[in-house]
Amino acid sequence: MDDLRDKYIGLIADAADEAAIEDLRVQAVGKKGEIALKMRELGKMTPEERQVMGPKLNALKDEINSALSAKKTSLADAALEERLRTEWLDVTLPGRGRRQGSIHPISQVTEEVSAIFADMGFAVAEGPQIETDWYNFDALNIPGHHPARAEMDTFYTHRAEGDNRPPHVLRTHTSPVQIRSMEKQGAPIRIICPGRVYRADYDQTHTPMFHQVEGLAIDKDISMANLKWVLEEFFTAFFGTEVKTRFRASHFPFTEPSAEVDIQCKWENGSVKVGEGDDWLEVLGSGMVHPKVLKAGGIDPDVYQGFAFGIGIDRLAMLKYGIPDLRAFFDADLRWLRHYGFASLDQPTLHGGLTR
Ligand code: PHE
Repeated sequence: MDDLRDKYIGLIADAADEAAIEDLRVQAVGKKGEIALKMRELGKMTPEERQVMGPKLNALKDEINSALSAKKTSLADAALEERLRTEWLDVTLPGRGRRQGSIHPISQVTEEVSAIFADMGFAVAEGPQIETDWYNFDALNIPGHHPARAEMDTFYTHRAEGDNRPPHVLRTHTSPVQIRSMEKQGAPIRIICPGRVYRADYDQTHTPMFHQVEGLAIDKDISMANLKWVLEEFFTAFFGTEVKTRFRASHFPFTEPSAEVDIQCKWENGSVKVGEGDDWLEVLGSGMVHPKVLKAGGIDPDVYQGFAFGIGIDRLAMLKYGIPDLRAFFDADLRWLRHYGFASLDQPTLHGGLTR
């Protein structure tokens, strides 16, 4: 019995993990373990012997059981100690900074423009960037031989050999969305259409892709006066200061009469300030929608009339945020984006003030 005791107490002390403890438990005090075998021998003993051996065996069984559970606890404690030691973490260390992306000034300005016009009851409409020449030109009263087609520096798509249909174009302005909106919703209409447009041109103030926002208001009693009010209201909200406008007679095939609109500005050490001084800066084309254009869009020009305008979004962004070179907008230079971009939670809004 003493041998049995010494053997198991020794083995338990040396056990390396919980699995070894479990093996020892089965071997020693399990149903078919060594103690159980000894218990069976009790039957062959004399009552006197049994009276001595019985309690001894039970005591041994208890002793081994408690040695097993003590060892189990100490193994678990050691494992915990080890985890605490190796998984130690200095919670006072500063976190690792992660760079956040920024809102591109074009996206920002598009949002601002949409918010201001939404406030005046204009919905946002969109159209495809690859257009048929009918929507981009013919429906806007620019027939095939018209010089405006050449002036627009149009990108044409390719047609297969022998396919004589006119090629699609990358839209040269957002004006085709006027026609699409007229077809889709009929009159009255009050929409703006922001989006990308394309012309083959590249220098400090021109990129082959740029952004416009078209405006279109059609109803039974719309006049040039409404156009002027809407534009002045827009510029004042956008620049956060009263901005005078100057309408100059101009020509577009899709409006009659047509006007180019300048905003009041002042040049100071090579940069421009809007809403001050007595210089003028051209920012948009506009006019009363030509009757032929209304007809092309399925609207009766004897009942309805309206105004339309097209503003360069990139130009607006340059003016408002003092960005000197248009090309940098599309260089995807992270330093530029960090400098001119907007934090996603720090965006100018109509209610919070549109200027920063
Ligand atoms: N589509 C013209 C352009 O791109 C701008 C414009 C729009 C002019 C609507 C008049 C009316 O230059």
